[in-house]
Amino acid sequence: MADIDASAAGAQAEAFGVRSRTVEALLADPQIGLVVNLTVPAAHAEVSGRIIEAGKHVYSEKPLGVSAAEARRLIALAQARGVRIGCAPDTFLGAAHQASRALIDAGVIGTVLSGSMSVLSRGMEAWHPNPDFFFRPGGGPVLDLGPYYVTQLVNLLGPIASVAATSGMGHASRTIGSGPRAGETVPVTTPTSYSALLTFRGGARISFEASWDVWKHQRVPIELYGTEGSLLVPDPNFFGDEPRVSRRGGDWERVDISAYAFGTPNRTLRTGRAVADHRSIGVVDMVSAIAEGRAHRADAGLALHVLDVLEAIDASASSGAFVEISSTCERPEPLPAGSDEAVFDTAVRSARAS
Ligand SMILES: NC(=O)c1ccc[n+]([C@@H]2O[C@H](COP(=O)([O-])OP(=O)(O)OC[C@H]3O[C@@H](n4cnc5c(N)ncnc54)[C@H](O)[C@@H]3O)[C@@H](O)[C@H]2O)c1
Repeated sequence: MADIDASAAGAQAEAFGVRSRTVEALLADPQIGLVVNLTVPAAHAEVSGRIIEAGKHVYSEKPLGVSAAEARRLIALAQARGVRIGCAPDTFLGAAHQASRALIDAGVIGTVLSGSMSVLSRGMEAWHPNPDFFFRPGGGPVLDLGPYYVTQLVNLLGPIASVAATSGMGHASRTIGSGPRAGETVPVTTPTSYSALLTFRGGARISFEASWDVWKHQRVPIELYGTEGSLLVPDPNFFGDEPRVSRRGGDWERVDISAYAFGTPNRTLRTGRAVADHRSIGVVDMVSAIAEGRAHRADAGLALHVLDVLEAIDASASSGAFVEISSTCERPEPLPAGSDEAVFDTAVRSARAS
C-alpha cells in the first residue's frame, strides 16, 4: 500500500492489515508483479506510466486516462515494456450482466435492433463532502458514470461505430449537503445532462440519457429490443439483480442469475438497499489470466474504446455533428456459470467438467 500522502497509506494499511511504504519503495520491490492504481483520475496516466516503467503490470481505476490520447500513450508504453494493463469497471462480470450476455448470445431476443439506457439522479452534492470536481470539466455524468454503462453495452452488443449527442446544464450552482462544508455552494462549469444516440458496428441503435438534473424517474437502466423479444438489464453500476425477458411479446419472465458468480448482495447502500458489489474481481481475472497466458477481460483495449465513446459524446454535444469512433475492440470472453473466483481459473473449470 502506498500513497503520495503517507498518512493516507498508513490509515488504509492499518485498516486492511497490510504494509505501507513510499510510492518509490513499492515500485522498486521486485516481489510485486502487479499494482492497482486507485489514485484520482487526473493522476491515473502518470501513476500507471510509472508502474509500467518499473516493469510491473497495472490495473487502473476508471478512466484509463483523462483523455483517449493519454490512454493510447499508456497502451503503447505497456506494449513496449511487455506488461499488461487492466482497467475498471469490472461490474460487467457480475451475475446479472453475464446472464444477460448469455441470453443475447443464445439468440433469445434475436438480433438487437434498438434500445435505451439511462443513469439519472440529482448528482453527488447531497452526500459527497467535496463534490466540486463532479461539476467541473472532466466531471459530469458521462465521464463519471458512463464507463459502467457503456462498458456493459459493449459487452452485450460489441463495439460502437458512431455517436450523436446534445447536452445541457440544469443548475448554475450546487449546494453541498453534508460534511464540514454543508451549505456552501459550488459553481457548475460542465454539462450535467446528456442525451446521446449510440450506433453499434453490429447495427443496433441505443439512446443514452445521463443526467444529474433528475429528481425522480421510472426508467430501467437498460432496455434492449430484438427481432425475437425484449430484455431488461439491471444497473451495471452493480453486479446483481434480476434481468427480465419477454419472448415475442409474452409476459416479462424473471431471469434466474443464481448459476453465475458475483450476484450475491454483500453491501447495503445509504438507502438501505442490499446490492451485490464485488468490485476488484477484474484484478483476480487479470492475475489468473497472466498465470494462464490468456487474455484478461477488463482490458485496456475495451477501456480505450469506451473512453473514445465518452469523449465523442462530449465532442458531438459541443459541435452538433455525428462523431465516428475510430477504435474498436473485441467483446470480452463471457464468464462460465459457476461460483466465486474459481470461474476465472481454466484449470479449475476443466477439472470440474471432467
Ligand atoms: N469513491 C468511490 O466510491 C469510487 C467508486 C468507483 C471508482 N472510484 C474511483 O477510484 C479512484 C479513487 O477515488 P477515491 O474516491 O478513492 O479518491 P480519494 O481522493 O479518496 O483517494 C485517492 C488517493 O490517491 C492519492 N493520490 C493522488 N495522486 C497520487 C499520486 N500521484 N501518487 C500516489 N497517490 C496519489 C491521494 O493522496 C488519495 O489518498 C477514482 O479514479 C475514482 O473514479 C471511486
